[in-house]
Amino acid sequence: QHTKHGCDHIFFIGFLGAGKSTLARNVGTMFKRRFIDTDRLVVRRCGKSVTEIFETEGEDRFRELETSALRSLQSERSLLVSCGGGIVETPVNIELMHEMGTCVYLEGDFEDSIRQIRRSDTRPDFRSPEHAARLFEHRRPLYRQAADLTLDIRNKSFEDVSYLCA
Ligand code: S3P
Repeated sequence: QHTKHGCDHIFFIGFLGAGKSTLARNVGTMFKRRFIDTDRLVVRRCGKSVTEIFETEGEDRFRELETSALRSLQSERSLLVSCGGGIVETPVNIELMHEMGTCVYLEGDFEDSIRQIRRSDTRPDFRSPEHAARLFEHRRPLYRQAADLTLDIRNKSFEDVSYLCA
């Protein structure tokens, strides 16, 4: 595939807790592609955890950092990129991803996401299940619109989903 920047990346998008990072790691290993995580890029460049950035600098600042992390991938080749769950909240990010490759939406259940969220240290406003549920509903159409391909990951193990990706 020839994209504007010739990068040919694969972006995993989906709600927090959908297993994007684990899957990117598995599938990356399978296909000998390097995998990276937009949250990790932001943390590395900023020197603060995601939660800290949200708490001290606010979501808008986090979104700016997220967009510049995405832009930094224009000079790379053939990555598997696990995107932060809110990547679709910033319209230019969707454009950037399409310029650099293909978007795969991992569509899971809200219940599974919530279970994962409870287990992880995440931004404070996700600790309210009501708020998380609203975000889930708000974002679903955004993910679907941004996706070149949607993978239904409900009731599937990582092995099943890795197989779907192949
Ligand atoms: C966010 C999801 C997180 C992280 C940040 C904001 C969101 O990423 O970017 O906490 O708004 O859904 P993961 O989906 O990788 O956990």
